[in-house]
Amino acid sequence: METATGVKVEEKFQLSDRVNRISVSPTMVVLQAADQLKSKGIDVADFGAGEPDFPTPEHIKRAAIQALDENKTKYTPTPGIAALREAICEWHARELGSSYQPSECVVNVGGKHSIFNAICCLINPGDEVVIPAPYWVSYPDMVKYAGGKPVILETRADDNFVLRAADLEKVITSRTRMVIADSPSNPSGSVIPPDEYAKILALCQRKGVWLLADECYSHFTYGDAKPFSISSVPNSKSTVITVGSFSKTFAMTGWRLGYVLAPQPLVAAITKLQSQSTSNPTSIVQYAGLAAMRGPMDGVATMLAEYARRRERIVAGLRAIPGVTCTAPQGAFYVFPNISAHYNAEMPNDMAVSKFLLEREHVAVVPGEAFGAPGYVRISYATSMDRIEEGLRRIARFFGQSA
Ligand SMILES: Cc1ncc(COP(=O)(O)O)c(C=O)c1O
Repeated sequence: METATGVKVEEKFQLSDRVNRISVSPTMVVLQAADQLKSKGIDVADFGAGEPDFPTPEHIKRAAIQALDENKTKYTPTPGIAALREAICEWHARELGSSYQPSECVVNVGGKHSIFNAICCLINPGDEVVIPAPYWVSYPDMVKYAGGKPVILETRADDNFVLRAADLEKVITSRTRMVIADSPSNPSGSVIPPDEYAKILALCQRKGVWLLADECYSHFTYGDAKPFSISSVPNSKSTVITVGSFSKTFAMTGWRLGYVLAPQPLVAAITKLQSQSTSNPTSIVQYAGLAAMRGPMDGVATMLAEYARRRERIVAGLRAIPGVTCTAPQGAFYVFPNISAHYNAEMPNDMAVSKFLLEREHVAVVPGEAFGAPGYVRISYATSMDRIEEGLRRIARFFGQSA
């Protein structure tokens, strides 16, 4: 078929190779399926969401309203307003012991955008990026979009899914350009102990490889694990790209605000890329972010205390189900149980388990396959204790039936 100008329709809709290399985020697919059921009035126990169920703290919302009232609604500098960049560096130094200057900080439209920008600025076709599995769904696709090659390094459930320097060393080649470390991790909740993280840093330094440290869940740690940034280690800054997000720490997922702390030339490149794409993050959101950085942190402690309570309940509840094994997450707000003992002819993988759990028991979870970890499902406990109890009842019933 031809259009009025004679161009073949098929040619017109031939998408770029770059966009054809990636797929829609699998977590979005699950959320959509659960939403469809909810829109029909069905009571879904929804463990799919990767976002806090708490509202954004009041002082942060007030700051956005004030900015709006004061007409702070114009373009801002592309890397963010100076006060916010300064406040991020001060907050990061205070909370996580780093020593960044505002010239080493660029503010982006969420942590996802921060990581995307960093990858697009550093990865050339053929470059390898090591991604420990289970991984956050977007890393491999971002690398592929940039033309790079994701190199997946499996971590072990019996080692709490911790990335180990010794294993990393085996997959680093002359083409490796970056290693991504996600601690605390989405989906496994694993936390890299500081001494192991230091070994990973030393290895990256020795091999001349960037270490991208995704700190989106930095403040949600349990037990012995504490908030930690590898950028606090002396002489680390020339190797490390620190990525932070306001989404989880301050319950601000919809506001879209994140940042990169990195050597100045990379910050300049990200600013250049941003100047030709999104420009600055929303002006009033930046003022809200400023209030988050300069304001009280008690909202974070309240959320953490509640997550800790839920974590204990959900781990115990899952471990009580025969055939389900579950490591205790050290951070974030997900559990990642192995459900593969329940596979059968009708339900041969975690995709099928997730599908039937949703169809039969109206429980939404994300299949482990989406995170490069077949055999598992991700369950978010960023939902109320009542919903957790109800969900556990349904999951137990489901596996009781299918055992
Ligand atoms: C590990 C990890 N990194 C980064 C992000 C990005 O968060 P945002 O773009 O909302 O800041 C997420 C969000 O789910 C995540 O789980």
